Amino acid sequence: MAKLDIIKAEHPVLRKKAVRITVFDRKLHALIDDMVETMIEAPGVGLAAPQIGLSQRLIVVRLPDDEESRQEYGDQAGVVYAVANPKIIKASRKMVEGVEACLSIPGYYGDVDRHEEIVVTGQDRDGKEFRIKARGWLARVFQHEIDHLDGRLYTDIAKEVWRARDEDAGDESPRGEGSRQSAGSPEGGEAVPE
Ligand code: CO
Repeated sequence: MAKLDIIKAEHPVLRKKAVRITVFDRKLHALIDDMVETMIEAPGVGLAAPQIGLSQRLIVVRLPDDEESRQEYGDQAGVVYAVANPKIIKASRKMVEGVEACLSIPGYYGDVDRHEEIVVTGQDRDGKEFRIKARGWLARVFQHEIDHLDGRLYTDIAKEVWRARDEDAGDESPRGEGSRQSAGSPEGGEAVPE
């Protein structure tokens, strides 16, 4: 596996509508493995193919496998979701506000409203269709990543965007893609489904 370079917000590929994945071969499997490795090392909780310069409809998502995450998300904590051609087919009317970050926009956070619950359909690495029901933070990450496939960044829809300060590192609990899971942020109750 190889770690891939994550491209930054000014790159035009991040503004393109990505194309559907139609071939589910070993090359795709290798790409998924590389994206997962890149996401985990970043560290982040999600990564979309345009972020590594590929305008294709492919995302990977993984919530941390820590106790807080397991309590809140059960079996879904620590699971690697690699989804080709993801599509939100159902979304709760209820919106929740939360803090997001993006690996392509390092050093910034923003407040973003997202659907609290969604149902996502897509295809796995072999092209088999499946669906995922997600809520809270997991639903937020899926919405953030799927937006990337349509050329949308969280800063387009954020109510407020601010620059991270060093002193935020220990007590901020951003719940977006470049989430920092610090030991000092166990306030899952307030911070998580947001
Ligand atoms: Co992002």
